[in-house]
Amino acid sequence: MLKYIDTHSHLYDTDFEGDLNDVIERAKEVGVAGVIMPAVDSTTYNAMISLASSQRGYTYPATGLHPTSVKENWREELEFVFESFSREKFIAVGEIGIDGYWSKEFMNEQITVFEEQLRVASENNLPVIIHSRDATEEIFKSLDRCRKLNLRGIFHAFSGSFETASRVFTYGDFRLGIGGVVTFKNSNLQKVIEKTPLDKIVLETDSPWLSPVPYRGKRNEPAYIKLVAEKIAEIKGCDLSRVAEVTTRNASEIFNLN
Ligand code: NI
Repeated sequence: MLKYIDTHSHLYDTDFEGDLNDVIERAKEVGVAGVIMPAVDSTTYNAMISLASSQRGYTYPATGLHPTSVKENWREELEFVFESFSREKFIAVGEIGIDGYWSKEFMNEQITVFEEQLRVASENNLPVIIHSRDATEEIFKSLDRCRKLNLRGIFHAFSGSFETASRVFTYGDFRLGIGGVVTFKNSNLQKVIEKTPLDKIVLETDSPWLSPVPYRGKRNEPAYIKLVAEKIAEIKGCDLSRVAEVTTRNASEIFNLN
C-alpha cells in the first residue's frame, strides 16, 4: 500500500468535530501514515494538543502564531508560543509568515513576529512552516535578515513562479508544500511542478480548506491527499507510487519522522 504524509492539516478545526473518527479512518484507508498539524494561535491550541495526545504517533502538533492572527495582542500571543515549548514537544514551528492579502494593518508586527519565530525555530532546531500570501518580497527580506539562523522547512501552499521556487531553495533545505490548488483548472502551479524536482515537493491538504477537484468548495480532509498526488504524477508523467515514495521521504527528512 502506498504511504503519504499530509504535511499540513488543521484536523483540530471545529469543522471536523462531528465526524473526526471517520475522517481519520478514511485517511488511513488511502494510506495517510501521518498528519502534521500547524498551529494558528492560542484559541485553537488546546484542541490541537488534545487531538495530538489522543492520536499520538499519527498526528504531530506544531507551535506558532499565524500571520493573520497577528493583531493588537500580538505580544501576548508570541509569548504564548515561546512558553509552549515548556509544555509540549513540537514537530515544527508554524504556521508562521506574512500575509498581505487579508490585511496590511499589522504588517510591521507580522514581520517582527515572523522573524522572532524563525529565531526560536532555529534555537530549537525545528523546521518552519511558512505561510506567504501577497508577501513574497517581504518574506525574502526577512529570510535575508535571518541568514545566520539554521533554517529549514516548508513553503506552505506554494503558489509562486519557478523563479520564486528556485530562490526559496537558496535559503537552505526548503521544500514546496503542494495541495489541492494544483488540481484547479488553469493553475500556473502545474508549470512550476513540471520543472521542480520531486525531491523538493511535499504533499499537504490544508484541510478543512482548499479541497482538490472534484471536491472544490467543499470541506477538505487528509484522505484527499491522494488526489493531489495523482495530479502531480500526471504532470510529471511518473507513477503514483513514485510520488508517494519521494514526497513521504521528503516529509520524513524535513520533520524528522521515523
Ligand atoms: Ni494552514
